[in-house]
Amino acid sequence: MPIIKIRQCKSPNIILKAAKVFIILILPRGDLQGAHIAIVPGDPGRVEGLAKALGTNAKHITSNREYTSYLTNIDGENVLICSTGMGGPSTAICLEELARMGIDTFIRFGTTGAIQKHIQPGDVIINDSAVRLDGTSTHYAPIEFPAVASNRVTNALREAAIETNAHYHIGTSVSSDTFWPGQKRYDSFTGYVPRRLQGTMKEWQTLGALNYEMETSTLFVVSRVFGLDAGAVCAVVINRAQTESIAKKDGYYTAYNQMIEIVKGAVRRLK
Ligand code: URA
Repeated sequence: MPIIKIRQCKSPNIILKAAKVFIILILPRGDLQGAHIAIVPGDPGRVEGLAKALGTNAKHITSNREYTSYLTNIDGENVLICSTGMGGPSTAICLEELARMGIDTFIRFGTTGAIQKHIQPGDVIINDSAVRLDGTSTHYAPIEFPAVASNRVTNALREAAIETNAHYHIGTSVSSDTFWPGQKRYDSFTGYVPRRLQGTMKEWQTLGALNYEMETSTLFVVSRVFGLDAGAVCAVVINRAQTESIAKKDGYYTAYNQMIEIVKGAVRRLK
């Protein structure tokens, strides 16, 4: 098994070692060809299209459970695209394994529900921080520890968004372990939201949070604890302050096309 060189590790607690990769199984089937940046969407079904839209010579590496990975080349830089699956637990497994393979920079490429009235479906949200309404991140650091993006990645995303004239917003996400009760949805099987979660959307709106999604707090806490860099960009597919219906697909594609350009611009700045 090759020894992996971690390019940029700020944590004093990281011991460089080539560890066995249990779940994603990328190493036994191919190497990362120098890639140190990973784009991490939630959905494995989006990985191939994303690899092709972002770069050239897109190449399938492996698929196992919710993890599908491709390599692509963005302006001379090999970049890994690897799905995280939904929610904190599968995201943390992905980060554990990619970090051990030498990935030092993560960019989440997700979808989200906006909770502020002025944010429309088709807009893009760059999250620089997240409310830790998840369980997984508490296994890595106590709840007082902040879920924040790396400035380096957020700045790269912001500059790229400005350069590409994207319709974007920057701020805090609420990362929930659940799609229904944690995001205060009543259109669930039981229609019940436990008392501790009732009224929470109003509170997050008042506190200025922009959106709900399910992975960013885990990404930010785990990356920070590892001494690695992470940022997040999401497509708005619904505005919960206006409706409970997901917007038409073209809303997603408006944001998706902007996010492709933003991520390409960010990779150029981060490579
Ligand atoms: N993803 C979520 O977690 N919530 C939404 O409302 C939309 C996408």
